[in-house]
Amino acid sequence: MLGLRNYWYPVLWGRRLGKRPVPITLCGERLVLIRDGGRAYALQDRCAHRGVPLSIHAGPLGNGVSARQVFPGTWTCGYHGWTYDLKTGTLVAALTDGPDSPICGKVRIQSYPVEERLGLLWVYVGEVGPPPVEDDIPQELLTQPHFMGGRISTREGNWRYATENAIDEAHPRFLHREAVWRYFKQPAPAWNRSRLEYPEDGKYLAYIPYDVHREDDYPGLGKWPQQPWYQHGGRNAQQIAIRLPGMIRVRQPGFTIYSWFVPIDAQHHRYVQTAVKTGTGPRLWAFRAYYWLYMRWVNQHMFNSQDAVMIRGMDSPPERLFRPDLSIIGWRMMCEAARGRGKAVASPAAGVGSEAVELAGVNAGSEGRQG
Ligand code: FES
Ligand SMILES: [Fe+2]
Repeated sequence: MLGLRNYWYPVLWGRRLGKRPVPITLCGERLVLIRDGGRAYALQDRCAHRGVPLSIHAGPLGNGVSARQVFPGTWTCGYHGWTYDLKTGTLVAALTDGPDSPICGKVRIQSYPVEERLGLLWVYVGEVGPPPVEDDIPQELLTQPHFMGGRISTREGNWRYATENAIDEAHPRFLHREAVWRYFKQPAPAWNRSRLEYPEDGKYLAYIPYDVHREDDYPGLGKWPQQPWYQHGGRNAQQIAIRLPGMIRVRQPGFTIYSWFVPIDAQHHRYVQTAVKTGTGPRLWAFRAYYWLYMRWVNQHMFNSQDAVMIRGMDSPPERLFRPDLSIIGWRMMCEAARGRGKAVASPAAGVGSEAVELAGVNAGSEGRQG
């Protein structure tokens, strides 16, 4: 439940890392981000001497101000002055034991690979040697000019609940039905069937709806849904796809949403959400205004807070999955083939019956090996 290791995760806007170190927790590991000479580094946030976090410093007034660097290329613990090499985590000096301290070179703390792309700091936690960071970033973001608006927040709930919520096909039809973001857009259907596809060489999993029913009669209950007048509108042609280790891509007419669900610990995740418009010129400026004046608040805050309420309240397994959870089953199978695990991706059959879904769901949900 602590996340899929062996992937690059976006954790912080690069501009947020200045002279002060920033402690973060990623996949259950506490680390500290440090900028030195313009480059970002990450070390285990625990001094090997007595276990003090490297990110803390008492300050002259004892008020816990942020630590200062003593020598370039290193970081010094604020307690007794053990000094670590930023690249390797090796202890290069124990300042309070003199230059000939015999412990130098004999102690090492974990250092983590860090890269800066798209204005974000990406950190790699894992055992398998890191691939280039570009392998874990959508290609189009690296190659096309674009505007990216985004926010990073810490949310309650395991990363797996959040990631599965993102690919959960049924919930927008109910949870988000009355969201302000949905006003003057085509209402979600009452229900539909879907099949799974694995576009872009299997990097993504997407669900493709068919047999769409905008409303229906529920025997003995009546017609559903009843749409208020302000929830009628134009087309709502969005395409949703997910990829490892937990990134959702929602292609909307005119722009694309990319979101990462970054594991912190068993009860929290970091939600990195972006809205991207590719291209240049006036259209880009128009989108920038649309983002800052409307979308950031109505979509990224209000709409996605509806999901946050559910993710915070979730408690599973046990669970009973139903037919529209096919996309969740597909995602869980994808996780089984995650980097460092080495299993092939199996495709759940399209149009799978409810019993098969239930079985697959129990298997995927009960084994607790989603990371
Ligand atoms: S605890 Fe870090 S130097 Fe002593
Ligand atoms: Fe949602």
